Amino acid sequence: MNDLGSSLRLLADAAGIAEAARFLGSGCTVAFPTETVYGLGADASDPVAVARIYAAKERPRFNPLIAHVAEFASAQAQGVFDDAALALAKAFWPGPLTLVVPAGPNCTVCDLARAGLASVALRVPGNAVARDLLARVGRPVAAPSANRSGRVSPTCAAHVLADLDGRISAVLDGGTAPVGVESTVVACLGGPPRLLRPGGVTRAALERVLGYHLADADPGTAPVPIGPGLLASHYAPRARVRLHAVSAAPDEAVLAFGGIPETVEVLARLDLSPAGDLAEAAANLFSALRSLDASGAASIAVASIPETGLGEAINDRLRRAAAPR
Ligand code: TXA
Ligand code: MG
Repeated sequence: MNDLGSSLRLLADAAGIAEAARFLGSGCTVAFPTETVYGLGADASDPVAVARIYAAKERPRFNPLIAHVAEFASAQAQGVFDDAALALAKAFWPGPLTLVVPAGPNCTVCDLARAGLASVALRVPGNAVARDLLARVGRPVAAPSANRSGRVSPTCAAHVLADLDGRISAVLDGGTAPVGVESTVVACLGGPPRLLRPGGVTRAALERVLGYHLADADPGTAPVPIGPGLLASHYAPRARVRLHAVSAAPDEAVLAFGGIPETVEVLARLDLSPAGDLAEAAANLFSALRSLDASGAASIAVASIPETGLGEAINDRLRRAAAPR
């Protein structure tokens, strides 16, 4: 664990982005905004820098990281894209999609960031600050979500500092992440593409581009290890999480959706989207879990969320938050 005193907070203006790029270029860890959640970045080609990510997060060492690049051409220099990967990259990059592809012969993403795998996870994020930063760094930036391992992902700089202050060099503050759940992870490793993690791009949108049904990863036979984002218990607040609640006890906190459950006296209550909008619900999910957790309630009662569209990613995160620890 590296103790760096308190971490620097940089504004995401031209000077702040340039400073963040200098930090990353010199082997330091910097948290930065993407459209999904904040990432904890380090130079993906530098194993010492990448090791600092694992130490700050207390992340199990053998879980591979996503390498972020500013544009598609830079991703193509790192990995081998088959037809499916090409179609998905063209349709959804820049954006909340991560493609796991075979590492190319000139791949510079180090073994530690790839957890020793023959594949590499690549993403071109969709927000201007991240792309400006990545273009200035000029090398792939490895970045998992900028939270302590197993905790709720951060959607603003304050969340990052709540978990990692003093453990990272700096956070680039670019406001609130608009998507609110992590990227969709799809493996394109020669066979049919597989959905490893639901996320900001919906299954229906992927299938529209592919023109066929997208298979799920089979944890028994998957050619890739199960990463922390795929573990049963993850994204966990301190409070117990109770799903499909239709009512709540007075000593519970409530995470509602579309006005349901209608509760009167509870410890705390937030509605992910009073209008029942799934994009709004995804954007609010992690910060709502954090603030309900801060209410001190021993249990958070969560409404049912439809399994359609972004609901698949929201329910995936909620099931992990509710899983036995
Ligand atoms: O939205 C996001 O994806 C955020 C932002 C910062 O980009 N990042 C993120 O990273 O959520 P992380 O490390 O929390 O999740 C990355 C997921 C993990 O489940 C990991 O196991 C999987 O991607 N992954 C990475 N490389 C892989 C590989 N070569 N094969 C299979 N899975 C891989
Ligand atoms: Mg994560």
